[in-house]
Amino acid sequence: MQEETIQAAVDKILEDFNREIDRFRNLESHSTIVLNAKSEISELKDLEIQFRGKKGRIATDLPKIGTLDPKTRPRAAVTIQKMERHIKAEIAHEIKRREAIERQLNDERESIDVTIPGRRPRPGHLHPITLMRQRIEDIFVSLGYIVEDDREIETDFYNFDALNIPEGHPARDPQDTFYTTEGFALRSQTSTVQIHAMQRRGTPVRMIAPGRVFRRDTPDPTHNPMFYQVEGLCVDRGITMAHLKGTLAEFVHGLFGPDTRTRFRPSYFPFTEPSAEVDYSCFNCGGTGCRICKQSGWIELGGSGMVHPNVLRAANVDPEEFTGFAFGLGIDRTCARIYQLDDIRLLFENDVRFLEQFR
Ligand code: FA5
Repeated sequence: MQEETIQAAVDKILEDFNREIDRFRNLESHSTIVLNAKSEISELKDLEIQFRGKKGRIATDLPKIGTLDPKTRPRAAVTIQKMERHIKAEIAHEIKRREAIERQLNDERESIDVTIPGRRPRPGHLHPITLMRQRIEDIFVSLGYIVEDDREIETDFYNFDALNIPEGHPARDPQDTFYTTEGFALRSQTSTVQIHAMQRRGTPVRMIAPGRVFRRDTPDPTHNPMFYQVEGLCVDRGITMAHLKGTLAEFVHGLFGPDTRTRFRPSYFPFTEPSAEVDYSCFNCGGTGCRICKQSGWIELGGSGMVHPNVLRAANVDPEEFTGFAFGLGIDRTCARIYQLDDIRLLFENDVRFLEQFR
């Protein structure tokens, strides 16, 4: 091949290569480069093979240097090698630029900027009902009571019969209870745990049972169809009403302070005899009357009484040997009073703006 022909072939290869490499020369915006760097590096490697590979343009369009006429060989070799160096350098240069960008990007990803303001974590906290329940539990545990937990779906036996509510008793009215399937109902009071606890632990027993109860009550500022109660039960030899009064007096002292007084009003519950409603003197005004106690000076705590002999019998406890007292307090209403909420429904609306105030 003539020297001029070789030069022309080299020029043609260079022209084609430059056209190709031009596509890579002008790097676009940073974000596009970042996106394309990897695939462009592989395209550049392909381009190199296309020109410098075994079956590439240089190998196919040009004669082997060794086959050239010895006279033209040195100059032709210089021209060809110069072109080869050019292609190699250009490709290497473009690949390097992209690798540098990738490296920089990795560094950026991995580096920690200690000057960026931290993101404040939003720690959760206990619900006001839970806080209230824990305060109640602490007081009774310090008096030697154990804390019982039990089922929310009950059989007729535990919900009614064992609590001295025989068939036909008005307290069985479907208006008052949510029935599930025949013979089962959502418990309407935690008094069901009295029976379970006596059966499980025998006597003597001192326990409290906080938990959820359900009633067909229409929601209003003081009623929810689901709310929390805490049941208390103490059964031993020689237990009297005086123990009940002393225990609840101690409880309100622990909850509201040592000056808090209690008041017992006669009442009726099928499972206690005698029965009493318990009030405590208002923690806000001390009994003189204010907005919280609706000017009466007293706030209702819950129901109480001496465990009915039939209830003891239902749990296989001999009423001739053992006596006991029981009480049941509404946690939601007590919670609402303490935190001065006008409406107990706030406790179940799950409005974070409300709940955050109890952190
Ligand atoms: C009872 O449920 C009896 N089991 C209490 C008891 C236990 C008496 C042991 C004797 C011996 P009562 O229905 O009054 O009693 O409910 C007790 C408390 O639950 C009430 O004082 C009140 O604070 C709360 N309560 C009742 N209904 C609702 C309701 N719909 N929403 C929120 N709290 C309620």
